[in-house]
Amino acid sequence: MNLISISDLGKDDIIRLLDRADAFKAGRYNTRTLPLEGKSLAMIFEKPSTRTRVSLEVAFEELGGHALNLSAKELQLGRGETVDDTARVLSRYVHGITARVYSHNTVVQLAKHASVPVVNALSDWEHPLQILADLMTMRQRFGLLDGLKIAWIGDGNNVCNSMILAAAITGMSIVVASPKGFEPRAKILEEAKRLGGNPRLVTDPAVAAKGADVLVTDTWVSMGDEAMEAERLRVFGKYQVNGELLKLASKDAIAMHCLPAHRGQEITDEVMDGPQSAVFDEAENRLHVSKAVLEWLIGQK
Ligand code: CP
Ligand code: NVA
Repeated sequence: MNLISISDLGKDDIIRLLDRADAFKAGRYNTRTLPLEGKSLAMIFEKPSTRTRVSLEVAFEELGGHALNLSAKELQLGRGETVDDTARVLSRYVHGITARVYSHNTVVQLAKHASVPVVNALSDWEHPLQILADLMTMRQRFGLLDGLKIAWIGDGNNVCNSMILAAAITGMSIVVASPKGFEPRAKILEEAKRLGGNPRLVTDPAVAAKGADVLVTDTWVSMGDEAMEAERLRVFGKYQVNGELLKLASKDAIAMHCLPAHRGQEITDEVMDGPQSAVFDEAENRLHVSKAVLEWLIGQK
């Protein structure tokens, strides 16, 4: 098994992982079992990371294993060794591979040629580990997922793609407000419909936010989009989660952001640091979700 797309998981799989993540959160310092004892994890990073790198490493080690942080530039991968051979060789040493990559195809290829589980730690298409932490956070705040109304404000990017698929799988509705030309990918929308979802696309953030339970946003300039930074900053100006937008949402609505945030751009300090912010719980939950995923894929059966 691999975790490349959030749609590799069905609703029951997601619920089981969230239950396990809740249990890890409740008993962080009294783990009696070490399901990853004697196991190693190779974590490949083509891009920077704070949350993903640290949560995966701490999760793996707290469950008894050893995690190696591998910058793609410092691997022979950076000098032209193929992804396929890298997957084959790492599989002889370690029990699982996580990869943060520019091109989604790289993580797909790794999974194809590895003989150990591979986890997508963010690609230009998806960010499944993030979305599991988001679902965990929403379920903790609202007690359920089914029927929640999600408003995605801003770029139809990798995190948005995974959120759209997760909404379809778990029975949440989602409205995406993004500027023309920055909508989520058509293939993702098709896949969401195939999974029973009905994502709506709008251009006005206020339309998406109205009555929503969750306002979610992300950076206007994702890693890999830097060449278009000036245009993006211009086009995304009104796609900001601020106090005014939050007032349009339901009274108990929460604001979410996978982080890192660009305060004053896609989200204001007022919202990030306000009473309706769930962003730091969301960040914490990356750790507990990572444990659940790593135990499931790599732990003793
Ligand atoms: N949210 C997230 O994946 O953060 P990092 O880029 O710091 O890993
Ligand atoms: N969409 C952002 C998420 C960072 C965690 C990016 O890809 O850079």
